Amino acid sequence: MKTTLHTLQQMAAKGDRIATLTCYDASFAALLETAGVDILLVGDSLGMTLQGSETTLGVTLDHMVYHTRCVASGARKAFIIADLPFGSYQESSQQALRSATQLMAAGAHMVKLEGGQPMAETVAFLTARGIPVCGHIGLTPQSVHQLGGYRVQGRGDAAAERLLQDTRALQQAGAGLLVLEAMPSTVGKEISTKTAIPTIGIGAGPDCAGQVLVLHDILGIYPGKTPKFAKNFMPGAGSIQAAVQTFVQEVKSGAFPAPEHCF
Ligand code: KIV
Repeated sequence: MKTTLHTLQQMAAKGDRIATLTCYDASFAALLETAGVDILLVGDSLGMTLQGSETTLGVTLDHMVYHTRCVASGARKAFIIADLPFGSYQESSQQALRSATQLMAAGAHMVKLEGGQPMAETVAFLTARGIPVCGHIGLTPQSVHQLGGYRVQGRGDAAAERLLQDTRALQQAGAGLLVLEAMPSTVGKEISTKTAIPTIGIGAGPDCAGQVLVLHDILGIYPGKTPKFAKNFMPGAGSIQAAVQTFVQEVKSGAFPAPEHCF
């Protein structure tokens, strides 16, 4: 049976954790969903993992459309989220609609965009037109230069309160899922318990409705520095399939993330 946004919302309501990995091609799409991954995120992290850049800023809408089409060709069951890349949605809601339309036509079931309150109007515009939207707050990699690097966000009461305000704004705008990246576990928990939106954490602690990691990090094949919240599942696994299955099992059981992966 196909995984839909409704399925994911029901899973979150029941406390069944959602296992998510980034995915950029058809072969991995088939392998990951066979291993039990619920959501395939066609992330603009492909700027780093596939293109060798230091940031996601050079990824274009054409790149994202291409990889979304590849993933959609290999997937039969998993829910597919595609990232709106830098510069493809910030100008206006109309620009976001044009870009999101291309990703949905390529096979995405939902688009993801970065930012909180300032993006709420765009999220409302897209969802009102039948395009499901996943928000992304905390460490938003497209703002790396404004943030002064890949730093943990939401430290201190004022910063944590801003993230809660972002969450409220995105919920009111109709966001269907919310990625929480690199924030103290206490903040990830507070957001996850206070919002009706299922949260997918990456470095946001164990209390999110699901967890996401970058595929290349769980396979230990990213040549650059990997973040504290990532875990290489390959040692001792014997195969890629087995490593992915262990990732899924650890997310579902709550064994991942362990304290050493949290802030
Ligand atoms: O592009 C990506 O891989 C992402 C994850 C880090 C959540 O957005």
